[in-house]
Amino acid sequence: MAMQVIFEEMTQPSPRGILLASLTFLFAMHLWRRIRRTLDVHGPPGPFAWPVIGNAVELGKSPHLYFTRMSRKYGDVFQIKLGCRDVVVLNGDAIKQALIKKGFDFAGRPDFASFKYISNGDSMAFGTFSECWKMHRKVAQSTVRMFSTSNNNTKKSFENHVVCEVRELLHIFLKKTKEHQYFQPNTYLVVSTANIMTAVCFGKRYSYDDAEFAQVVGRNDQFTQTVGAGSMVDVMPWLQYFPNPIKTIFENFKDLNREFSKFIINKVVEHRKTIHSSTIRDMTDAFIMALDKQDSSSRISPGKDYVPPTIGDIFGASQDTLSTALQWIILILVRFPHIQLRLQEEVDKVVDRRRLPTIEDQPQLPYVMAFIYEVMRFTSFLPLTIPHSTIVDTDIMGYTIPKDTVIFINQWSSNHDSTKWTQPETFDPLRFLDHSGSLNKDRASSVLIFSLGKRRCIGEELSKMQMFLFTSLLVHQVHFSPDPDNPLSIDYTYGLTLKPNNFYIAVNLRDSIEVLEESQGNLGISQSDRE
Ligand code: HEM
Repeated sequence: MAMQVIFEEMTQPSPRGILLASLTFLFAMHLWRRIRRTLDVHGPPGPFAWPVIGNAVELGKSPHLYFTRMSRKYGDVFQIKLGCRDVVVLNGDAIKQALIKKGFDFAGRPDFASFKYISNGDSMAFGTFSECWKMHRKVAQSTVRMFSTSNNNTKKSFENHVVCEVRELLHIFLKKTKEHQYFQPNTYLVVSTANIMTAVCFGKRYSYDDAEFAQVVGRNDQFTQTVGAGSMVDVMPWLQYFPNPIKTIFENFKDLNREFSKFIINKVVEHRKTIHSSTIRDMTDAFIMALDKQDSSSRISPGKDYVPPTIGDIFGASQDTLSTALQWIILILVRFPHIQLRLQEEVDKVVDRRRLPTIEDQPQLPYVMAFIYEVMRFTSFLPLTIPHSTIVDTDIMGYTIPKDTVIFINQWSSNHDSTKWTQPETFDPLRFLDHSGSLNKDRASSVLIFSLGKRRCIGEELSKMQMFLFTSLLVHQVHFSPDPDNPLSIDYTYGLTLKPNNFYIAVNLRDSIEVLEESQGNLGISQSDRE
């Protein structure tokens, strides 16, 4: 009888037996990796990693702060484990060395579960390094320039979109202040920023009441929480396969990507029906012309339509980042009233009250630019870049890094490095001005938020222009004040971008709105119409 029980346990293992065997196996695997890491003197150092989950729990709500603490202990290059993946985290000086000196080696993207659902896996921003990626990036880069910073005409045309959106936004802000005294501005800032990009991308803007548009652009938080470095489903893909909160978040993520793709594809279909090669109306037309020509003349991507993913990358990457930037700009204006006053003084002195600030005023407004650089440095609202991966076996600062290793780039660590910045936790735009009051361009260029090297953001110049115009127009026209009953906090929710928690403000005109009403900004006019 006893023999039979033992025999049955051996042939039909009990759940307890399976669990024990699995734990023993995982522990043996973990031990083997630790031994290998100890023997391999060239691998980066790092904290102890637990079996199965690795260091996932330690990341907490602010992974960039955990990484910055770890870099103080282990140095600028260290290694952690997230679920089953080895992740090398680069901080401080190691970032430049990897992305500039060894740019090619570190230019890949990991094969993360979430990245496969962005534009059905055809996204340029989330796709890995390849000939096809190189071609799409080149086309995207030149198209973005062509519709923003390439020359004085394109700059004026872009400025026109911004002025008209600022006017609409201020109408809403003034109305909300009249109705409620204090209100939350974040949703309006999302629609306003998205509208600037829909004007540039699709030659169209949307009303603040458009439910379909609000639904498409209102899900940024869910998107960035899933693709930010340290996203659980990417490093523990098995979490997708049984009910749990991460699976629910991932299902929402898939859903919003489907919705977003549908919105973009509809726009491309409409454009293809009405396009004339002699008139490029907007970025979608430009992409259709450039990519269709590329695809028929090259064998890089035969049979695939890369127009929707490329326009999706531009629209997606721009509206989330820029609306987050604007939320921080307004929060900081309200939080530091003396800085708001100084900005108003500078703009009034250079521009005066009879006209609006324009892009040509930028060189004469160094404090406005210093303020924008300090917002980017202080908040580091894109603390870790989109995750990278190595595309060959390589090394950095003497440490060996195998091919296909996941790489996190901690931009926050560079912007808050006390050897580089005096009192990095203090908000002080003056750190960017030299003794004669001009913008210190070297200092400004050491703020790290658009990344570096082969994957450097292609919207950097457009973003700086937009932030400059928004800030100078807003401080010229209105005054922002905080709600005394809802104290302001600089707290945020972590994701690819750090989103400030909701806050309440009142917005009041500084004098009359006449100058803004009479300005050139013209709603709904496409690029081609104006040319
Ligand atoms: C303040 C606003 C913005 C910030 C802080 C920002 C920052 C970044 C960062 C950190 C990356 C990842 C780089 C890397 O992985 O190393 C990125 C990628 C990218 N950004 Fe931006 N971005 C901003 C606005 C924009 C705008 C307005 C556009 C388009 C017009 C844009 C288009 C892209 C694209 C297409 C990529 C992918 C590049 C690639 O993978 O090769 N971004 N951005």
